[in-house]
Amino acid sequence: MERNQILIPDEKIREQYNYMERVRLLLGSGVRKAVVMTFGCQQNEADSERLAGMLHEMGYTIVKEPEDVDLILVNTCAVREHAELKTLSITGQYKHLKQKNPSLLIGICGCMVSQEHRKEDIKQKYPYVDFLFGTEGLYRLPEILYTKLKSGKRQFHLNEGIGNIAEGLPVYRESSFKAWVSIMYGCNNFCSYCIVPYVRGRERSRDPEEILKEVRELAESGVKEITLLGQNVNSYGKDLPEPMEFATLLEKVCEIPGEFTVRFMTSHPKDATKRLIDVMAANDKIAKAFHLPLQSGSDRILKVMNRRYTQESYLTLARYIKEKMPDISLTTDIIVGFPGETEEDFEGTLSVLKEVRFDNIYSFIYSKRVGTPAASMPDQVPSEVSQDRFARMLKLQDEISLSKNRENIGKILPVLVEGVSKTDPDRLTGRTEKGRLVHFKGPEDLIGKEASVRITDVLTHSFFGELI
Ligand code: 5AD
Ligand code: SF4
Repeated sequence: MERNQILIPDEKIREQYNYMERVRLLLGSGVRKAVVMTFGCQQNEADSERLAGMLHEMGYTIVKEPEDVDLILVNTCAVREHAELKTLSITGQYKHLKQKNPSLLIGICGCMVSQEHRKEDIKQKYPYVDFLFGTEGLYRLPEILYTKLKSGKRQFHLNEGIGNIAEGLPVYRESSFKAWVSIMYGCNNFCSYCIVPYVRGRERSRDPEEILKEVRELAESGVKEITLLGQNVNSYGKDLPEPMEFATLLEKVCEIPGEFTVRFMTSHPKDATKRLIDVMAANDKIAKAFHLPLQSGSDRILKVMNRRYTQESYLTLARYIKEKMPDISLTTDIIVGFPGETEEDFEGTLSVLKEVRFDNIYSFIYSKRVGTPAASMPDQVPSEVSQDRFARMLKLQDEISLSKNRENIGKILPVLVEGVSKTDPDRLTGRTEKGRLVHFKGPEDLIGKEASVRITDVLTHSFFGELI
């Protein structure tokens, strides 16, 4: 697709600012509260910050809980059935809030409702949902909300053509010290299990100057951690009028003055280049943490998943990363119970876990997604078999994680302090460079700053420590 068909023209963005102004006038004075409920990945978190930015611009005060608000916007995920069912059940609970407060507005957007069948479900079975739009319609929230307010009619807008980039929208950032920066949208890979290309469209890269401007502003405002986001960051720049490699973008981001750490996700193993790894190894600003989704360790399953790498090429890449950065934290995603997965295939996955010794894995039982090739593949794996494999894999990984975590006892690590611990109000929590959660006692004015913490004890997924 031509670049100028992807970029939303400035005048269309200005039109939306116009609608924001009109909504503000319509709502009049007085406090109006809105909440954006976010499901799914970091890309969705980043989108929600733009949705909240527009709502804030329209005069809403952004809050975190849906009680006593004037507007609820649910930003949905479609990656697994579990995420969809959870969203539907939570949206179902908002019916009571609407009964208590008939002027409450309820909107739903994002990946789940970008599927036609889900849009129809919401239309028929959730009559109290006032408006709906897909991933493509994000920048049109002001217009959709204005039309709903003005006409009183429910608004249902699904992706008209798929794949745009909207620059210049306001952003309401949840944290003052951690920020997401989307560098690209969409995905071209069509892994056979995955719904993402259908709900988020084809890959399209933001102009590097727009990205660098955003990072510069964040660095100037004192942000300590910047995460560059894309479904497959290693394809960044291929579609630009002047193509640019992701490794080059990373170098340019690191040249920006300021004391901040750079993270990025997600990398597809077939596209992660040696140059990217070399740039990472050479650059102190880049966190030494690499998320590299394996999905399966069986060549046969990788082929039907359409992943386009083999167990051996994955291992070669992982070995190179470890050779260049011996202290790296490697994490991965695994799907268990993909159609046709045999015990032997599953053991291929376990053998990769044993060799690589990931710091952490995000594991999922395969979930059938309507419209994807895998949904109609023969030999869907029975649930009890998947559950059993899943449990065995977690047991193995827990042992690995715990033994790797123990290597940290006694070390003094820099920790970016995120807040007060949710489970123990006497403690603060923060994350190490490698992404491990650390609980320790300390003054609340450390929140948003870096602290030195000596690790005293570890669990499978977190550390305990004392402030130095
Ligand atoms: N079933 C289970 N897990 C899935 N993922 C993506 N699609 C599915 C599916 N249909 C997992 C992959 C991906 C992560 C974000 O979600 O492991 O890397
Ligand atoms: Fe993110 Fe994929 Fe879920 Fe969309 S479907 S929110 S892109 S994980």
